[in-house]
Amino acid sequence: MPKVLISDALSDAAVQIFRDRGIEVDFQPKLGKDKEKLAEIIGDYDGLAIRSATKATEKLIERATNLKVIGRAGIGVDNVDIPAASKKGIIVMNTPFGNSITTAEHAISMLMSVARQIPEANASTHAGKWEKSRFMGVEVTGKTLGVIGAGNIGSIVIDRAHGLKMKVIAYDPFLSEERATEIGVEKVDLDTLLGRSDFITMHVPLTDQTRNILSRENIAKLKPSVRIVNCARGGLVDEEALAEALQEGRVAGAAFDVFAVEPATESPLFNLPNVVVTPHLGAATTEAQENVALQVAEQMSDYLLTGA
Ligand code: MLT
Repeated sequence: MPKVLISDALSDAAVQIFRDRGIEVDFQPKLGKDKEKLAEIIGDYDGLAIRSATKATEKLIERATNLKVIGRAGIGVDNVDIPAASKKGIIVMNTPFGNSITTAEHAISMLMSVARQIPEANASTHAGKWEKSRFMGVEVTGKTLGVIGAGNIGSIVIDRAHGLKMKVIAYDPFLSEERATEIGVEKVDLDTLLGRSDFITMHVPLTDQTRNILSRENIAKLKPSVRIVNCARGGLVDEEALAEALQEGRVAGAAFDVFAVEPATESPLFNLPNVVVTPHLGAATTEAQENVALQVAEQMSDYLLTGA
């Protein structure tokens, strides 16, 4: 009987699926944070199911003498050393669709929050200040939303933005003209997007091509009224340069769920008045976590039991 270790906080639904499929499962949701302990026991398992806390590094993979599959309940596999896994013949799988709606909804929530300064107004009102004239927001209706990355999550954001009556333009080298028409966006180059957008939201993985896509140089091309949302990956934006632009009024606001270094206990963006921050909550809904747990457990079971 194959043996699977779940080393992050996956929904219980995953445990049940493995058991129902006849797979022995060890549910240790805090183990991902204990590198030494994890390295000690990883050799006993055929499968490893994780979220983002477990780092499947080359060192860990070296110790994984029986491991056949690593399943990431989520989209990004940046916490898995894929070349090291491939070298050992270990399959790495993710769940590209399970949390897309939830992540898109978080991006829209962040966009609305930064447009109306909801977090600051909330804190001020809780403090009994009633600062009615302090919080002057902007409407989103009729504004231009620039979407960087019009794939799975980006296209859901585009759909929701149409519901908010925004004009949507997209930069995505992989977006065909046919698909752009189908999802109702104007396909533009990056400089056009930077120069025209009132809001920008990013929905791309962090790769050599996308790292620092909002670099200091590109931030200088933005309208001073722009508000930037990042619920994709830290490292897409030069946080230092953005903080300076915010302080100098060259950018109006930012809403970030992801940071160059995570867990982020400090960032140049923290404590700026026009910045909304959340701790990588893009996939954090009960629905999304249930979806990704079910999907990863099914996929891993299929692979371990049938090799497919
Ligand atoms: C993902 O890659 O699925 C999301 O960023 C969510 C997460 O890492 O928890």
